[in-house]
Amino acid sequence: MRLSFFTCLLAIPSLCCANEILYEKRDYIFSDPSSACSQFGASITLENVTVNFANFVPAGTNLSFTQDYGLALCGYPNALVTSDMCRVAMYVATSYRSGITLEAWLPINWTGRFLSTGNGGESGCIQYPDLAYTAGLGFATVGANNGHNGTTGVAFANNSDVVEDFAIRSLHTGVVVGKELTKQFYGTAHKKSYYLGCSTGGRQGFKSVQSYPLDFDGVLAGAPALNYPNLNSWSAHFYPIFGDLGNATFVPVGLWAVIHQEILNQCDGIDGVIDGIVEDPELCRFRPEALQCPPGTTNSSTCLTSAQVGAVRKAFTDFYGVDGNLIYPRMQPGSETIASFVYYTGGPFSYSSDWFKYVVYNNSNWNPASFTIEDAKVAEDQNPFDIATWNGNISAFQNNGGKLRSISGMGHCEGGDGAYFIGNLLASVSTMDPQNNVLLRIIDWVENGNAPETVTGTKFVNDDPAQGVAFVRNHCTYPKRNVCTNPGNYTSPDAWTCVL
Ligand SMILES: *[C@@H]1O[C@H](CO)[C@@H](O)[C@H](O)[C@H]1NC(C)=O
Ligand SMILES: *[C@@H]1O[C@H](CO)[C@@H](O)[C@H](O)[C@H]1NC(C)=O
Ligand SMILES: *[C@@H]1O[C@H](CO)[C@@H](O)[C@H](O)[C@H]1NC(C)=O
Ligand SMILES: *[C@@H]1O[C@H](CO)[C@@H](O)[C@H](O)[C@H]1NC(C)=O
Ligand SMILES: *[C@@H]1O[C@H](CO)[C@@H](O)[C@H](O)[C@H]1NC(C)=O
Ligand SMILES: *[C@@H]1O[C@H](CO)[C@@H](O)[C@H](O)[C@H]1NC(C)=O
Ligand SMILES: *[C@@H]1O[C@H](CO)[C@@H](O)[C@H](O)[C@H]1NC(C)=O
Ligand SMILES: *[C@@H]1O[C@H](CO)[C@@H](O)[C@H](O)[C@H]1NC(C)=O
Ligand SMILES: *[C@@H]1O[C@H](CO)[C@@H](O)[C@H](O)[C@H]1NC(C)=O
Ligand SMILES: *[C@@H]1O[C@H](CO)[C@@H](O)[C@H](O)[C@H]1NC(C)=O
Repeated sequence: MRLSFFTCLLAIPSLCCANEILYEKRDYIFSDPSSACSQFGASITLENVTVNFANFVPAGTNLSFTQDYGLALCGYPNALVTSDMCRVAMYVATSYRSGITLEAWLPINWTGRFLSTGNGGESGCIQYPDLAYTAGLGFATVGANNGHNGTTGVAFANNSDVVEDFAIRSLHTGVVVGKELTKQFYGTAHKKSYYLGCSTGGRQGFKSVQSYPLDFDGVLAGAPALNYPNLNSWSAHFYPIFGDLGNATFVPVGLWAVIHQEILNQCDGIDGVIDGIVEDPELCRFRPEALQCPPGTTNSSTCLTSAQVGAVRKAFTDFYGVDGNLIYPRMQPGSETIASFVYYTGGPFSYSSDWFKYVVYNNSNWNPASFTIEDAKVAEDQNPFDIATWNGNISAFQNNGGKLRSISGMGHCEGGDGAYFIGNLLASVSTMDPQNNVLLRIIDWVENGNAPETVTGTKFVNDDPAQGVAFVRNHCTYPKRNVCTNPGNYTSPDAWTCVL
């Protein structure tokens, strides 16, 4: 009784703050936003900045990026604009042979907040869905193409300036230009600045914290691609482990479903309930030999040959380099539902082979099947522009009052078997309560001092909100982990406790 009463009390301020965060601070409205926007575009005279266009875009516009301005390759064909805004598109030179394509989405109804989005993979792509999400919430938002166009690393070849943009210069340049444009457009500087990114975007968030600790007051860095050259080596090492269809070590996708079930058999109960989710993969010591076929079996769809057992064991073993140092930790058990379509398909993982071709060796003929730990050593030693992003000293950011959250678990940035609707993307918004929405949660932390203990995620039936909630679960703050204390009620967040 007392516990649930307490929960109610906590819920009331959250509801009050969600509204306050979203609406009450929208304190600047233009009388004629359309001409304000075009006049603003014509007035921009910043060094290195060329304005391509400045357009007033009314709420309700379905922007199409294939026909309009974006890149068909990036897979963001359109985005729905949900509040009136001034959209400014620019090219910003970063050197004589490099530059970024940058957009600022400046909502007419401004909250006084600035935000930069990040990038993903090896792109090359302005993340329009993130701009639409955050500008719609009243942030003056910027997004850049990270110094090159498209989703491959070809532009890195023999051009270290493009690599420098990708490491951090694109993000920082966009922040400097974006904050100045924000001030010029609204006539007053932003009050707080935020960052939102995942994967490569997560790494960019950490790099910003390490190298430009004053750029942001709040940073949301999801699934960060840290220790980047080593991550590329680890990503590259799966191809030599498994080979291609037809190699004795190759594991067809159907067998990965069998392996996943065996991982659940061995590890699902560790967190206190059998629910199809391994809450903390670190505690799972998966033994693939349990799936070994009897002698003489060939091409079974239910068990593994000894060559396959050996390959699977390698994938789930920490990866060490020539000097005996750890290159990267093992693959996490449970992830194979997604990883089998990314890393174990036969053929190389394109992001990592591009890194070796176009950055490490400047040689587009480099053969990914030949990858060894000697290559990993070359990449680690090279570490251009300290793209490793592996500096644990973030005291300068912390001393400036900066708040940083890295969101772990679930699929990679979205999807997965767990409660992954946490508001990190517009497509993963369940509610606008800050407890359920990490973007609003970090605002609440920066501006109201409410540090998160947990973030509440939602899993919908068949991942479709229209079909209702499958379960709700709190995600713990690292290094705490989730334990189920009431297995009969595991779909309720109250059935779980965060423990050290
Ligand atoms: C600005 O936000 C308020 C809510 O705070 C809303 O009522 C109004 O319609 C918005 N105006 C525009 C131009 O979007
Ligand atoms: C936006 O336009 C695209 C392509 O024309 C369409 O597929 C999509 O459903 C539209 N989105 C909305 C929210 O209307
Ligand atoms: C403009 O770009 C050059 C490199 O081409 C750089 O040295 C200079 O600092 C940039 N200026 C500004 C204001 O960023
Ligand atoms: C990237 O694409 C944009 C939009 O089409 C274009 O303006 C820009 O010049 C391109 N950048 C590079 C480096 O090719
Ligand atoms: C690749 O090219 C870049 C840019 O010209 C250069 O800095 C780097 O040293 C080259 N790497 C190799 C292995 O030749
Ligand atoms: C896969 O088989 C091909 C053909 O026998 C061979 O050339 C290649 O080295 C094998 N790959 C691995 C990773 O074993
Ligand atoms: C293995 O068996 C499947 C059917 O179960 C078949 O499609 C496949 O071609 C077989 N592979 C080999 C290498 O024999
Ligand atoms: C980089 O430049 C070198 C020297 O001109 C050339 O041999 C090599 O093919 C270039 N690499 C790529 C990937 O274009
Ligand atoms: C951490 O970085 C700050 C500067 O940002 C420096 O003053 C301090 O000495 C560093 N601390 C350690 C333990 O290296
Ligand atoms: C299960 O959780 C719900 C929601 O928190 C709660 O109302 C109910 O009492 C719980 N049932 C049991 C058996 O614990």
